[in-house]
Amino acid sequence: MISEKDFIASNYTISIENGSFEWSAPSNIALVKYWGKKEHQIPANPSISFTLNHCKTITKLTFSQKQKEEDFSFDLLFEGKPKEDFKPKIQKFFERIFEYCPYLKDFHFTIDTQNTFPHSSGIASSASGMAALAMNIMSLEKMLNPGISENYFYQKASFLARLGSGSACRSVKGNVVVWGQERERTGEANHAEISESSNLFGVEFSSVHENFKEYQDTILLVDKGEKQVSSTVGHDLMFGHPYAERRFEQAHVNLSEIKSILENGDVENFVKIVESEALTLHAMMMTSMPYFILMKPNTLEIINKIWKFRAETQIPVCFTLDAGANVHVLYPKKNQQEVLQFIKGELVAYCQNGQYICDEIGKGSQLIMDN
Ligand code: PMV
Repeated sequence: MISEKDFIASNYTISIENGSFEWSAPSNIALVKYWGKKEHQIPANPSISFTLNHCKTITKLTFSQKQKEEDFSFDLLFEGKPKEDFKPKIQKFFERIFEYCPYLKDFHFTIDTQNTFPHSSGIASSASGMAALAMNIMSLEKMLNPGISENYFYQKASFLARLGSGSACRSVKGNVVVWGQERERTGEANHAEISESSNLFGVEFSSVHENFKEYQDTILLVDKGEKQVSSTVGHDLMFGHPYAERRFEQAHVNLSEIKSILENGDVENFVKIVESEALTLHAMMMTSMPYFILMKPNTLEIINKIWKFRAETQIPVCFTLDAGANVHVLYPKKNQQEVLQFIKGELVAYCQNGQYICDEIGKGSQLIMDN
């Protein structure tokens, strides 16, 4: 089994003076949610997500060799302008990954980053942002050690991204990604199911049924304000939470079920697990101490409208939520026309300034420029 130690860079040489890379990395939306973690960004339960396609971060990393010093040296630009308030997060990220990327102190970096979705839209940019930076760092590592395999490249990129923001490890590669060690299950023929899932990085789930290919995600921006509860605070709320252990159990069961559903194309049961997971995540927040309600009245209006529409049309459209008030509306590509008409006619009225973003399943990070 792979351990942290396998990700410590070795056999590299500081052979280059300068250069730059550019990568994009998408956001992702969890179907089975990660909420609660152990030390070193190890999830309390496994999760699975759809990778998005249009909501992404594009990051250019420029580097030039410098004298090895005690501290990291980097400038940070957001949308072309220096952004001092993002620097502590990057500094902390570099500190966390230095053990695995000791070459980071041999270079000065300029990190030039932008998002394709509006800033402070309530869509977290930490997953896409950390993944895009991790991809660039791995491109640098590959230059210093051309011998690393493609598999190692992506696994370590996800491993590094995870140390920046847990869910970021699911934004590296694949349409559907599982993160977190699953329990060994005994299959029907009494064979233990073989699972490659890991607490250390995201693993692509590739046996996805035709029904889920090109799945659509329309994100309704109900509340674009600052997050009421940061993920760090949120995960901590699961310590000493009265329902924590039961919830972690449930996530294991839901993950195992949704994997079968994704394989066999059962959209009806997909709807049930996805919506239950979203409401459970929010139930955890309502029942923690301190407690929070992150849904807004319009979130509930939208949920009720979706339920009514689904009952009337039999179209398997469903919702999911992150740790906020925005609603992700998930549906098959073949129902796009009717669902978009429904969204425009009945749901947009509940969005702040009528704003929503049309996205769909995507395949992960992409290299834009390499020189
Ligand atoms: O990656 P973090 O620490 O920002 O946590 C993300 C938590 C949720 O978005 C609520 C759930 C998930 O699995 O993405």
